[in-house]
Amino acid sequence: MVTPARLEGRVAAVTGAARGIGRAIAERLAADGARVACIDISAARIEQAVAEMQARGADVRAYALDVAERNAVHAAFARIEADFASPLAILVNNAAWIRYQAPSAIDAETLDRMLGVGVKGLIWTLQAAQDPLQRSGHGSVINICSTAALRATPDSLAYCAVKGAVAGLTRAAAVDFGRLGIRVNAIAPAFVATAAALANFDEAGIAQRRRSTPLGRLADASEIASVAAFLASDDSSFINGELVVVDGGRTHAAL
Ligand SMILES: NC(=O)c1ccc[n+]([C@@H]2O[C@H](COP(=O)([O-])OP(=O)(O)OC[C@H]3O[C@@H](n4cnc5c(N)ncnc54)[C@H](O)[C@@H]3O)[C@@H](O)[C@H]2O)c1
Repeated sequence: MVTPARLEGRVAAVTGAARGIGRAIAERLAADGARVACIDISAARIEQAVAEMQARGADVRAYALDVAERNAVHAAFARIEADFASPLAILVNNAAWIRYQAPSAIDAETLDRMLGVGVKGLIWTLQAAQDPLQRSGHGSVINICSTAALRATPDSLAYCAVKGAVAGLTRAAAVDFGRLGIRVNAIAPAFVATAAALANFDEAGIAQRRRSTPLGRLADASEIASVAAFLASDDSSFINGELVVVDGGRTHAAL
């Protein structure tokens, strides 16, 4: 017997889908049968990524916008529903703009941008997607958080503020949206070996992260994507408001 792909025909939107974890999630949802709206601020990068995914048979489309801009988000989500001729069932809030700074060095512009993309952006997409998610009958939202919501590293004051807010707004949205039949959950990765993350650390810093992880290695973006696909699917139909830690055991370890 052939089992149908578990997300067959469902429309998904993934923010920050041009590279890294967002790209891996878009690819995985498409592989599981979803039709994916791939959103990114970089038009060139999202068009290139979508062309590569389409070449491998994925049903994906590119949308270039800044998720921090409320009007742009609302316009894009209306366009996504028209383009796919079906309401959005899966929303993955992955985009973030991150800088690590010592507390005394944090400037207003950097902080506004981090909060704009990483917190306000999620509120705008939730707002724009609420109605289609409800109409889809399978609404599931996955917010990409971080273990920075649970414990801190040096120079992460602003980042912990952003990801702490993501954990909190996930719980709040799970209450409001749950009553509409929409589930809202978050994933908290520790260190994932994406180009952006690797660029932030030298070899010693990366080796330290490997050593402090009981599994003895860094996560691959596909290992975050597989959890996102589970949370997007009916296999997780009674999970709502959870923060799923995907860190190889690092947060629990004293290594
Ligand atoms: N990589 C890690 O180690 C790690 C660990 C924990 C959590 N995370 C979280 O995972 C997510 C993705 O991380 P990544 O390492 O893949 O990052 P990345 O920088 O490789 O990808 C982020 C993508 O978001 C896009 N983007 C940035 N600002 C945007 C905006 N305003 N509107 C639309 N798109 C925008 C970028 O162009 C980029 O394609 C982030 O939320 C990050 O905080 C990453």
